[in-house]
Amino acid sequence: MTKLINFIVQPGGCLQGQIRVPGDKSISHRSIMLGALANGTTHVKGFLEAEDALATLQAFRDMGVEIQGPEDGELTIQGVGMHGLKAPSKPLDVGNSGTSMRLLSGLLAGQSFDSTLIGDESLSKRPMKRVTNPLAEMGAKIDTTESGTSPLHINGGKTLHGIDYDMPMASAQVKSCVLLAGLYAEGETSVTEPAPTRDHTERMLSGFGYTVERNGNKVTVNSKGSLTACEIDVPSDISSAAFFLVGACIAEGSEILLKHVGLNPTRTGVIDILKLMGADIETSNLKVIGGEPVADIKVRSSQLKGINIPPELVPLAIDEFPVLFIAAACAEGRTVLTNAQELRVKECDRIQVMADGLQTLGIDAVATDDGMIIQGGQLGGGVVESHDDHRIAMSFAIAGLRANAPITIQDCANVNTSFPPFVSLAGDLGLAIESKEIS
Ligand code: S3P
Repeated sequence: MTKLINFIVQPGGCLQGQIRVPGDKSISHRSIMLGALANGTTHVKGFLEAEDALATLQAFRDMGVEIQGPEDGELTIQGVGMHGLKAPSKPLDVGNSGTSMRLLSGLLAGQSFDSTLIGDESLSKRPMKRVTNPLAEMGAKIDTTESGTSPLHINGGKTLHGIDYDMPMASAQVKSCVLLAGLYAEGETSVTEPAPTRDHTERMLSGFGYTVERNGNKVTVNSKGSLTACEIDVPSDISSAAFFLVGACIAEGSEILLKHVGLNPTRTGVIDILKLMGADIETSNLKVIGGEPVADIKVRSSQLKGINIPPELVPLAIDEFPVLFIAAACAEGRTVLTNAQELRVKECDRIQVMADGLQTLGIDAVATDDGMIIQGGQLGGGVVESHDDHRIAMSFAIAGLRANAPITIQDCANVNTSFPPFVSLAGDLGLAIESKEIS
């Protein structure tokens, strides 16, 4: 049985010092997938040793791929080539990880063998038709539950053909799923996205020597390429850095340096939004490593102001809204988020759950169909629920910096899915946080 963990945060304080947060989750997943399908041996540094990325790693081990590590974020993957995966002897259990399930469904649709993808209770409620529909158009046969959720039973041995997919939602997981199926499909496979979403799949495919064409908002691959093993240096995850970015902004007297953070322009919406709110954020030491921009980020506290969040920034900050809502709660005036209905189908309904938690802490937060309206005010203490969602847990922990009484966050073991050392790093920077096992 998983242990029940609560976080208890004492009010006030500030953040000071420098840290390096763990590796990027999206890039870590993709390093395993492409490294496994490459010809040759791929070395990965900075791999995120957290449950989600480890679920992807285990899935490939279950399909016969030899992987050494991880040890201190280092991995060696003995690639089996595009057609070298073996039928797994049991369902592939990807735990809480939507990225594993959605990307793997595309890859597995192109294999010669049958497979089944399963996940935990939260993942088993999340919509999978968004991937099985385009895959069916390509000729795949995937069974879901009646409501379009996992388990996904993927029938192998189907001949896939390329499609020109006009993606109805801005989703990097759906885009990546279709592109990965496209590696196995006859002809060309294209995805047109309604707004830019994270492009790690495209960048990493190119890094492995696979041709990817981009024309405006359309990405195209065909099945003629192959993947050549390479060295991957995973930058720190901006989505994990985001908790401290916001923490340092809202806690008076803070100054922190976040080292070696991935600054891919499809991920930097959180910085743009905080800057529009008046944040004091500077980047330095910018380099490009393995096709991904990386830099150090310095943040000092400042009085934030409420804003209307520009809709075009929403997909570029999609995972950072829970903690951005905390920033909005600490800002002067009103913050309005629209066009973010995708937040309702993340690890939990992040709109409702954050609005409920903020109200518990005394903030005027109103959930709308596609976003939230938050009036900045004084955060109080109380007990809030993480609802099976790591980013909700960490966001309310950060809220403690501006609360006037302790906050208890219930059920926080899920933080291990993306950011296992959160409590110790947050403590190093000055957050008065305790992780308490509940018997
Ligand atoms: C991810 C894409 C995003 C994000 C998720 C990781 C990825 O989901 O929320 O945490 O690695 O491709 P979308 O499919 O909504 O873009």
